[in-house]
Amino acid sequence: MGMSAVGRSKLMNKTKVLFVCLGNICRSPAADAIFNQLVSEKNLQHIFEIDSAGTSAHHEGEQADARMREAGLRRSLSIPSISRQLVVQDLEHYDYIIVMDDSNYQNVLKLDTANKYSGKVLKMTDYASDEFKHFDAVPDPYFGGEEGFEKVLDLLENTNLGLLESLVRTD
Ligand code: 4NP
Repeated sequence: MGMSAVGRSKLMNKTKVLFVCLGNICRSPAADAIFNQLVSEKNLQHIFEIDSAGTSAHHEGEQADARMREAGLRRSLSIPSISRQLVVQDLEHYDYIIVMDDSNYQNVLKLDTANKYSGKVLKMTDYASDEFKHFDAVPDPYFGGEEGFEKVLDLLENTNLGLLESLVRTD
């Protein structure tokens, strides 16, 4: 924090980014995969540590939802994550904890009983460009149709570009 990812890497200190949703089977696995893809395209893998987690343990050990993985593959995005629950140690370890909606935000802060980490918790939609500025959350696609998964990927592609730009800015 306070230093760009490029600046940190010069100190051999990776910038650690954790994407968080409720189940860790739809939104945060997709965000994780998209951010990884963007970072790889820019050959910046060496400066980032990237993962995702869910505030619920309900889907622990599961692959991402088949509908999410299929929507990813339709645009050549592989989504390989296995669901795990967020633990308080993640709040210490990661530099940026990127949540998908306000409910995720509240659930993360509930883990932070000493109120030490709230400054690290940011919303994915804070990084949207003008085209996607009307979103104040990445909507949960779990109970909806196919189009919800496509919309989530469109929104996550846009917001992850904004996030990466904000982290590698060298000014
Ligand atoms: P996610 O979606 O938080 O984007 O992984 C959900 C997955 C499962 C459930 C809710 C949301 N669920 O209620 O089981």
